[in-house]
Amino acid sequence: MAENAHAPLHTPLGLLAELTHRCPLGCPYCSNPLTLDPRERELDTASWARVFGEAAALGVLQVHLSGGEPAARRDLVALTTAAHAAGLYTNLITSAVGVTPQILDQLAAAGLDHVQISIQDSEPESADRIAGYAGAFTRKRALAAEVTRLKIPLTINVVVHRANIERIAEMVELALSLGASRVEIAHVQYYGWALQNRARLMPSAAQVARAAETVEALRRRHHGEIVIDAVVPDYYARLPKPCVGGWGRRSLNVTPAGKVLPCHAAESIPGLEFWSVREHSLAEIWKNSPAFNAFRGSSWMQEPCRGCARRDVDFGGCRCQAFALTGDARATDPVCHLAPAHNEVAALAAIQEDAPYAYRRM
Ligand code: SF4
Ligand code: FES
Repeated sequence: MAENAHAPLHTPLGLLAELTHRCPLGCPYCSNPLTLDPRERELDTASWARVFGEAAALGVLQVHLSGGEPAARRDLVALTTAAHAAGLYTNLITSAVGVTPQILDQLAAAGLDHVQISIQDSEPESADRIAGYAGAFTRKRALAAEVTRLKIPLTINVVVHRANIERIAEMVELALSLGASRVEIAHVQYYGWALQNRARLMPSAAQVARAAETVEALRRRHHGEIVIDAVVPDYYARLPKPCVGGWGRRSLNVTPAGKVLPCHAAESIPGLEFWSVREHSLAEIWKNSPAFNAFRGSSWMQEPCRGCARRDVDFGGCRCQAFALTGDARATDPVCHLAPAHNEVAALAAIQEDAPYAYRRM
């Protein structure tokens, strides 16, 4: 892909640190890539500490310690200490499995600023079935109680799909009862592993419409008590999301093995050249790596994006989704009602089957 030399260079604000791909859960909607980094390829503690320092020097304010399950790393406390020492706001994104009360105490002492726990459903049996892990729901409740006991701000993240979309109200009530200050209702994004399960996860149009009404009612009822973040799911939207705030504009993603990506699914686009923190500084990568420059600015765009008034608002949507649905990463995201391939999205959303999930296992 040609370098987009004339695009303005912005300052990244967020770093997604994928500390490991190892994870005890097997969620069918996992958006991690099909090929996972094995443990022996993971960056060591000192390399991550250097990356956190370079990120802060580059202007990054916030690091999301993520995975896989970050607690699968035995050095999670040391990594949190390093990120905090670099001056970054630290957010732990966890399944809760593996974070014991003792580890959480140590993370709090290390300066952990925020915790985000994913829940799969409000009903324990269904939650454990979706996660592919017996007992996960109980552990999530227990960790949430510990997080609020330590007065660490808590976000509950809910990934919504056909099996749980009818219980959004119950899941928000659960988040409230757990002491969360924010609940993020995210619909499945169909790239990486999730694409294989699309027909098994896709909600119906009627379910999506009811969910939107439910969210509005919940916002009115719980105004001032909890922040409810929710968006229309891609396959039922008329306009695309400004994915990752624009390619190479606001965030970086470092894989367990040290590759730096503009978004977590970028490796699904063939032909992009990613650089690694093993060979380059984060600043060099942000400025000069071919992958980051591939879709900066607007000169790579095709019509209708190229001449559209929204091109600096949504940046043509999601590059990974454009590639997944059209085979061309430069195409207008088909979620957009102006995209030539838009009708195909509705046709794909109509394909729903009740087969067993393909669980994500390393
Ligand atoms: Fe966004 Fe492109 Fe659609 Fe315009 S045509 S709204 S820029 S995706
Ligand atoms: Fe890659 Fe949207 S997930 S650009």
